[in-house]
Amino acid sequence: METLWQVSTDKLARQPEAIMRAGNIFQLGNGYMGYRGTLDEYTAEQMVGITLAGLYDRVGQAWREPVNAPNGGFTRLWLDGERVCAVAGKVKHHRQTLQLGTAAFERHTTFVIAGKELTISSHRFLSASNPHLGVIEYRINCDQDARVRVQTGIDFAIWDLNGPHLIKLKARQHGSILTVAGVTQETGQQVVVAEGLAGLNESGQWRVVNEKSLHEIHLTLRRGETRCFHKFFAVYTDNDRVRSPLVAAIRCIRESFQLGREALCQRHQAEWRRRWEASDVRITGDPAAQQALRYSLFQLLIAAPVPGSANSIPARALSGQVYKGAIFWDTEMFMFPFFVHTQPKLAAELMRYRIQTLPGAKRKARTESTGYRGAFYAWESQETGDEACTYFNIGDPLTGRELRTYFRDKQVHISGDVAIAMWEYFRQTGDDMLLLKGGAEVILECARFYLSRVHYQPDQDRYVLLDVTGPDEYHERVHNNAFTNQVAAATLEIAGALLKHLRRHHPQTVRQLVRRLKLAPDLPLLTAVTRKFHIPRPRSQDRVIEQFDDYFRLEDVPVATVKKRKIHPHEYLGGGQGVAVPTQVIKQADVIMMLNLFKDRYSQGVKRANWEFYEPRTEHGSSLSACAYAMVAADVGKVDWAYKYFLQTAKVDLEAKYKLYVGTTFIGGSHPAANGGAWMTAVFGFGGVRTDERQISLSPRLYRRWAALEFPLRHRGQSFRMRLTHHDIAVEAAASNQRPHRLVIAGRAYRLAPGKKIIVSR
Ligand code: IFM
Repeated sequence: METLWQVSTDKLARQPEAIMRAGNIFQLGNGYMGYRGTLDEYTAEQMVGITLAGLYDRVGQAWREPVNAPNGGFTRLWLDGERVCAVAGKVKHHRQTLQLGTAAFERHTTFVIAGKELTISSHRFLSASNPHLGVIEYRINCDQDARVRVQTGIDFAIWDLNGPHLIKLKARQHGSILTVAGVTQETGQQVVVAEGLAGLNESGQWRVVNEKSLHEIHLTLRRGETRCFHKFFAVYTDNDRVRSPLVAAIRCIRESFQLGREALCQRHQAEWRRRWEASDVRITGDPAAQQALRYSLFQLLIAAPVPGSANSIPARALSGQVYKGAIFWDTEMFMFPFFVHTQPKLAAELMRYRIQTLPGAKRKARTESTGYRGAFYAWESQETGDEACTYFNIGDPLTGRELRTYFRDKQVHISGDVAIAMWEYFRQTGDDMLLLKGGAEVILECARFYLSRVHYQPDQDRYVLLDVTGPDEYHERVHNNAFTNQVAAATLEIAGALLKHLRRHHPQTVRQLVRRLKLAPDLPLLTAVTRKFHIPRPRSQDRVIEQFDDYFRLEDVPVATVKKRKIHPHEYLGGGQGVAVPTQVIKQADVIMMLNLFKDRYSQGVKRANWEFYEPRTEHGSSLSACAYAMVAADVGKVDWAYKYFLQTAKVDLEAKYKLYVGTTFIGGSHPAANGGAWMTAVFGFGGVRTDERQISLSPRLYRRWAALEFPLRHRGQSFRMRLTHHDIAVEAAASNQRPHRLVIAGRAYRLAPGKKIIVSR
């Protein structure tokens, strides 16, 4: 059904908050830049944002954040001298649509001005084949004869949270092409936008008004006549390794003139067909779930890094500058699985980002707290990998003071999250090139960090991790957080397995690595700590795992009661005085996150007992929480619960009902981790997919209202399509596969040859 490939609304958002939320819902992206879903005539006031991936700037002492480019998509009109604008004007009809299949934004708005009806229709895409390019088709129609003044060009009055980031902005004209160039405040990096128009016979006059560089064109429209023009804009920066961003941007526009919109559109659409082919998940029998899931995948695809960029995906993707445009554990733990199982090249790009930022992680380890060895990845990571998270990261709305939070210095699981993903890349693809090109060093340095961070308790002959914060950020500075200990222990195991692999297959490399990293003294310690790492075990009476030492002693009180204790609606529940701190109420999945990540190490009984214990104690104050509960629920056969949490995670951005403030900090934007969680719940949860070095196994737990679940899956360099129903499980191997693949379906093993299909009755 067509609607399942679209998201649209007839409601025109007019209040600032509604405009902001719509800007997130209808955003476009191509990995290089994100373009918020705002209308052509909107300005900084309506939070127009073209956020650039991987380019950051800091102004004074404010937070460092990604740079927004001047808006090359800007167009505004006057009809018979009267301004046409959706925010203030009389609108008879409005519809805006996000085309998920082709990654395009469309708007149709009919204005009524002095008895005349003027309709603006525009179609915008950010090219998937040339990441520097944006293309807009703009149509104007009037039901009566009319004079229309068009101003179209580049708006460089940029919306910034902590800016202005671009200074020395200079507007110029190069023949018919307009450019705006500026430099970032902190490091003086150039950002250039070029813009050109095609399709109008009337020649424009160049004007610069209120930080807008514009072609001004006067049109005379006959009754019912439609005039159309095409706009191309290109963004280049010093990050792009071109000799001159200005020359490159102008060249890009000239090439676009030559190719024309149609050809550019075809290339863009062909690329999107390929992406969907590789990643779409189809649910039969539940259109709402289908649309929410597809929208979630769309969010991941528009944020995916440009190949070769070594960029990663920020926690708010490219929807703006929230969370400093930083990369968190969200990427490795929530988004990476989607990429590694659908488009491994993009997963490799995410890992390359961590390889590139290893020096920053090593600097952080050396300088944080008393100083550690190895790599302590930034909790909030930008282009260098140095820590972007501040010690006082949340404003308290009650006192107006900054709260000391321990995200950056105590959430030490981040290094293990990175190491686990790095190793997963190798396990899932079978390709060890990334390990040889820096990935091995990442893993070994993360392991070394934990070796320097653990404490030995001689009385119990065990290694422990003290003074940490787990995923549940409401309880900071705790001892032996089960998730963190398990992640750290797994990192050490991975380091051991990595060394074994390298010794066997690349003996020369491993010798050089051990020598270069001066690793020899750490090797005996690695073995000892791995063997004696303390992992909190389920308690005997009810099999519940204590989230951290003494968690069970905290006040056991319902989430709703804790929330009632708040004085201010935006009050942060954690931090020193937070109302959740003395209670068992947790922010987000923690033990449950661990049971999902390490599902094969725990019995179904333990998973079920912990799910039932922690679920009523979880506030789900983070969008990362629901999917962990969904996946573990599916794992233990609580499929209806899994469905409830699946919808929560899959709809988070589509419904855009998320909170906008934590304390005094604005956090509105999109939630790619939840989007990745939606994919994982569909494929790992309901699809029951498990993969390791040897095989794919499937034991589906299909939701009862779903007739079928279909998805592509990549594993060890081979491609498959799965179709699961309540009656059978079908797996088809791509004809291009290189060899037969081992599958385990509902407990029985099969070998599936290239080009063959297997159907197993349930
Ligand atoms: O990484 C998360 C964290 O777990 C909870 N707060 C928001 C962060 C960014 O999404």
